[in-house]
Amino acid sequence: MVSKGSKQFMAYIEVRHSSKYYHMGETTIVANENVNFEIEKGELVIILGSSGAGKSTLLNILGGMDTNDEGEVIIDGVNIAELSSHQLTNYRRDDVGFVFQFYNLVANLTAKENVELASEIVRDAMDPEEILWQVGLGHRLNNFPAQLSGGEQQRVSIARAVAKNPKILLCDEPTGVLDYQTGKHVLQILQDMSRKQGATVIIVTHNTALAPIADRVIHMRDATVKSVEVNPEPQDIAMLEY
Ligand SMILES: Nc1ncnc2c1ncn2[C@@H]1O[C@H](COP(=O)(O)OP(=O)(O)O)[C@@H](O)[C@H]1O
Ligand SMILES: [Mg+2]
Repeated sequence: MVSKGSKQFMAYIEVRHSSKYYHMGETTIVANENVNFEIEKGELVIILGSSGAGKSTLLNILGGMDTNDEGEVIIDGVNIAELSSHQLTNYRRDDVGFVFQFYNLVANLTAKENVELASEIVRDAMDPEEILWQVGLGHRLNNFPAQLSGGEQQRVSIARAVAKNPKILLCDEPTGVLDYQTGKHVLQILQDMSRKQGATVIIVTHNTALAPIADRVIHMRDATVKSVEVNPEPQDIAMLEY
């Protein structure tokens, strides 16, 4: 069963000695090795590192989309590394919103229908139309993904993740393919999720210029966490230059 810690002394997220290996024929790829860090509830966190550092692997493990081979991944007092696949499904559905680099929208559903897909599977969901208005797409409710720009599609995918009112919002290179102004707009929405809604927002990026906006920056290199920085005064996204 799940192990419950003494919650008041624990951080909201605690990853301890987490390792993940991929086996490709004869060779073993070490994707995460002895990863350790903590995250407090409601923080905006950036996981920073170059390509191949193990960031997506870590994010997928945090989101219950993949499982580690060793170590603990404690979310709100529960070690999700020990959950059954059924329990992990509930965790993914109820607690986690995921924003993918390439949006992963359903091509033959409209913007509104894509968001409804997420809102319909949870209690306490937000209203799909209202969220699409919030991300500036109130006038594009009935457009299909192919009729929207990259930035607009990414905002639909954020609306979809946010519609579930998730405790944890995980974003893998959410601005990776966006132009500068659109990227800033997307980051503002994500920062507001943490500041205004109290969600814990974790953004994976290779772009060091984004680090100043985060409450906490987790530096990854060669499959492991090299250092963790806490920003007492994160920068406003409007002031950010990258
Ligand atoms: N499903 C997989 N099968 C085999 N190797 C993988 C798989 N996913 C990731 N890897 C490998 O694990 C390492 C870390 O990958 P990843 O977590 O995607 O890094 P990042 O997101 O920082 O670019 C890389 O060497 C990558 O090739
Ligand atoms: Mg990646």
